[in-house]
Amino acid sequence: MQNRTGVIGGTGVYDPKLLEDLKEVDVKTPYGNALLYIGKYREREVCFLPRHGRKHGVPPHKINYRANIWALKKQGANRIISTAAVGSLNEAMPPGAAVLIDQFIDFTRQRPLTFFEEGNEGVVHTDFTEPYCPEIRNLLRGNAVGAGLQAVDYGTYICTEGPRFETPAEIKMFKAWGGDVVGMTNVPEVVLAREAGLCYATVTLVTNYAAGISNTVLSHDEVLEMMAENIEKIRHLIMNTISEISQDPRCSCGDIPGKIQVD
Ligand code: HPA
Repeated sequence: MQNRTGVIGGTGVYDPKLLEDLKEVDVKTPYGNALLYIGKYREREVCFLPRHGRKHGVPPHKINYRANIWALKKQGANRIISTAAVGSLNEAMPPGAAVLIDQFIDFTRQRPLTFFEEGNEGVVHTDFTEPYCPEIRNLLRGNAVGAGLQAVDYGTYICTEGPRFETPAEIKMFKAWGGDVVGMTNVPEVVLAREAGLCYATVTLVTNYAAGISNTVLSHDEVLEMMAENIEKIRHLIMNTISEISQDPRCSCGDIPGKIQVD
């Protein structure tokens, strides 16, 4: 069960539709169990994990990110594509755009953010100069137009703790500090994936302009509606990308200082 591709579905992406020979697996990890689906797409084995649970029952600050990444690695997923709904701080990234983020700024507050707490591994500092896998980002960029999406090939993701939306003052500050889009889940997911030596890239879909930029108040329903409108395009993009993903990565995502042992 090696060389599987992992897909982490964010808001609005809860079911493993399009996968064949589907089975549900409850994976045991040192951090608790994680539920995922394994199936096939054009002869590729895919592990699908709905980040918020099957029915969006888990809020961003309660997601067991460590169990999820551990479980994907244990099931042989060495390359992961995730999806995320985001608010936009940048008029070049309007609602409906797919932003292929290339940097993040972490404004989370109370989430376990590492596999390297102490103990056998000692102190581990992991490089994050290029947080998202360049090979997967290239494939996503190449497939976005064919999937009918307006893609933007850069973007700094601000990760907030949530579950509340931001104040206009916070958004003004994030914008001044270089943020392009804002969401609540990419950190620590991207961090843990790199610590585990996995390739990881995210397709974000802009569902709204952020607070204070939008001229209406924000609601989760608005986010869900925009995701629902674009879900088929996102699915298309991910599936086409999965069928092109190389089993033999040339990137350096796996060259990391610590090694977590999942078996
Ligand atoms: N803020 C935070 N998370 C989000 C937003 C937002 O405006 N839209 C979708 N996810």
